[in-house]
Amino acid sequence: MFPGPTLEINNGDTLVVKVTNKARYNVTIHWHGVRQMRTAWADGPEFVTQCPIRPGASYTYRFTIQGQEGTLWWHAHSSWLRATVYGALIIHPREGSSYPFPKPNRETPVLLGEWWDANPIDVVRQATRTGAAPNVSDAYTINGQPGDLYNCSSKDTVIVPIDSGETHLIRVINSGLNQPLFFTIANHSFTVVGADASYIKPFTTSVIMLGPGQTTDVLIKGDQAPARYYMAARAYASAPTAPFDNTTTTAILEYKSVPCPAKKGQAIRPVMPSLPAYNDTNTVTAFTTKFRSPQKVEVPTEIDENLYFTVGLGLNNCPKNFNSNQCQGPNGTRFTASMNNVSFVLPSNFSLLQAHHQGIPGVFTTDFPANPPLKFDYTGNVSRSLWQPAPGTKVYNLKYGSRVQIVVQGTSIFTVENHPIHLHGYDFYIIAEGFGNFNPRTDTSKFNLVDPPLRNTVSVPVAGWAVIRFVADNPGVWLMHCHLDVHITWGLAMAFLVENGVGELESLQAPPLDLPQC
Ligand code: C2O
Repeated sequence: MFPGPTLEINNGDTLVVKVTNKARYNVTIHWHGVRQMRTAWADGPEFVTQCPIRPGASYTYRFTIQGQEGTLWWHAHSSWLRATVYGALIIHPREGSSYPFPKPNRETPVLLGEWWDANPIDVVRQATRTGAAPNVSDAYTINGQPGDLYNCSSKDTVIVPIDSGETHLIRVINSGLNQPLFFTIANHSFTVVGADASYIKPFTTSVIMLGPGQTTDVLIKGDQAPARYYMAARAYASAPTAPFDNTTTTAILEYKSVPCPAKKGQAIRPVMPSLPAYNDTNTVTAFTTKFRSPQKVEVPTEIDENLYFTVGLGLNNCPKNFNSNQCQGPNGTRFTASMNNVSFVLPSNFSLLQAHHQGIPGVFTTDFPANPPLKFDYTGNVSRSLWQPAPGTKVYNLKYGSRVQIVVQGTSIFTVENHPIHLHGYDFYIIAEGFGNFNPRTDTSKFNLVDPPLRNTVSVPVAGWAVIRFVADNPGVWLMHCHLDVHITWGLAMAFLVENGVGELESLQAPPLDLPQC
């Protein structure tokens, strides 16, 4: 199936999902946004919490959904396989409990995807061979179909029904690989009610933006003339000069009472919405800064770990033993990326979690820096001498229960860009965001410690920063990375190692017996 099957469950449910690899590549499945309390073994990122499932082999993921409601999704977490291996994970309220808004008459998942007219594994392999940026996608998709604006599959354009007077809950997921996307529906405004499986204080908007990994739940009303309206998505391209896929994907919102155009012998074009300009950062800021939790929340106020992570790209000089075909990045370089100047390298013989749990030395080091090793004007004109990060498999240790703040600071190395930064195993409060360099003297006063939104992926503003807080109450090894797969490929990642607390309920469970071995 493409997209893969939708899993619909209730808050509190335990899932047992047997995954059998029928492909010719190694694969793992990640349950994006699921907290995985004490079950890090079921989280899924390849070589972080497990070794890959080999072709023909199986692994059974077992985990419980605790206190999360709304929309999440699942996807392959191995190379670029998630380009075509993903699906929705919908969490309804527990039986007997309800949404914090009137029950919608209908619900539809809308998975925004990214499509290459090529094997995505070949696309990433070519980029890794040449050192250049990978080819951009050829199309975006809504629930697997590109829609009417491409000269291919208009017969198969997805139709989403609505009835006059109805309220419809649309669960939008950006399952694209590398592209933040705007999404809108002609003539219908959105009431945003949730994101990343947490409720938010409802607000209205005509357009939303999602970085890859993010989900947003919106209500629409069937309050327009019975007709056909396009829903459409296209790029939010924040890097000023980088090439991107500038096509538009559509599906059709169709009123049930609309006269059938085929019957009447006339194909009436659905109403087309207008979308923001590709580089419309103002619209993105206006949107993301509206997010609030529904009520006052408990944000940690005392901080044990005050961290400052730079996130961005880099260019490696061509290594001596490489030929020029292997250095086709800008000016004969190879693209790279890093956090705090460390370009993350996955292990290949053990998963990080296994190495930690079994005490296997030499797989990782625990010296990921709490601060940039060198202070510089992160979003200014950065000296070329600072463009080459050092490769490493470094984790940052957190004591169980420590209260963590991270300033995630974008850099202008090679280019500025909006980075969707995702943390596995946790939801975090986004207490502030801004442009330029974070300044503790002036920006601390902007912290929202009352009702900040709770999410698992933060869109760090282009040439800017975001501040997040969480309590390290889930032991295990948790990847934090940019959800643009091209950036993970280049090393824009790190991992937290959260130690066990006291007693069984604060400790990682034993590994499952069928955990894949390397
Ligand atoms: Cu959506 Cu590391 O994952």
